[in-house]
Amino acid sequence: MPKPTLGSDPGTVRGSDPKRRIGVLISGRGSNLQAIIDATVDRRLDAEIAVVISNRPDAAGLKRARDAGIEALVLEHTDKAKFASREDYDAHLVRVLKERQVHLVCLAGFMRLLTTVFLDAFPNGVVNIHPSLLPAFPGTNAQYQAWAHGVKWTGATVHLVTTELDAGPIVLQDTVPVKDSDDMETLAARILETEHRLYPLAIQLLLSGRWRLEGRRFLGHP
Ligand code: GRF
Repeated sequence: MPKPTLGSDPGTVRGSDPKRRIGVLISGRGSNLQAIIDATVDRRLDAEIAVVISNRPDAAGLKRARDAGIEALVLEHTDKAKFASREDYDAHLVRVLKERQVHLVCLAGFMRLLTTVFLDAFPNGVVNIHPSLLPAFPGTNAQYQAWAHGVKWTGATVHLVTTELDAGPIVLQDTVPVKDSDDMETLAARILETEHRLYPLAIQLLLSGRWRLEGRRFLGHP
């Protein structure tokens, strides 16, 4: 089985390791973005955040990026004058990321499905965090789905992104207990703590290159 490639050749970037340049896509609060920023500052994560892009102008995560001195851009998918189709939007995103020589794209609450125009530009190079133990509870409101279903354990999953929603190879997972006293908010907060720990670990693992895919099985440990 050939070793999977992560992204395409990013060329050279003065003063930084091009293989460690990541882009983060957000749509809202940006707490996972913050966890990634904090991990790079603490050097738990050996990566450089080249750019943060939001599809929504009101995303609170934009300020988190700017406060950390990271370039933060808004690309509104609703701008029909610029983007006639999903593919047009994705092609533009790819251009912006490639211009900044991004090697790995991290989705952190980015509320849009990506087309093959995007995914083909970053082979095995797009990763997402989801607030459940996939394949249980894909889609939106995963924390609520788990709580309402009555599971005793849920968790968080970092997975590679494919065209199928929340269904790509699983990079890392961790469990979170559901307590009898939990309401939606307390459960979501506990899951979020796990997300914040898990995502930087998974990005570090992906950037290390010490992993391989066998079918849809991701083999490699932090
Ligand atoms: C997180 O729960 C993440 O798992 C999901 O969207 C949420 C984003 O939260 N994909 P934040 O913007 O990172 O705070």
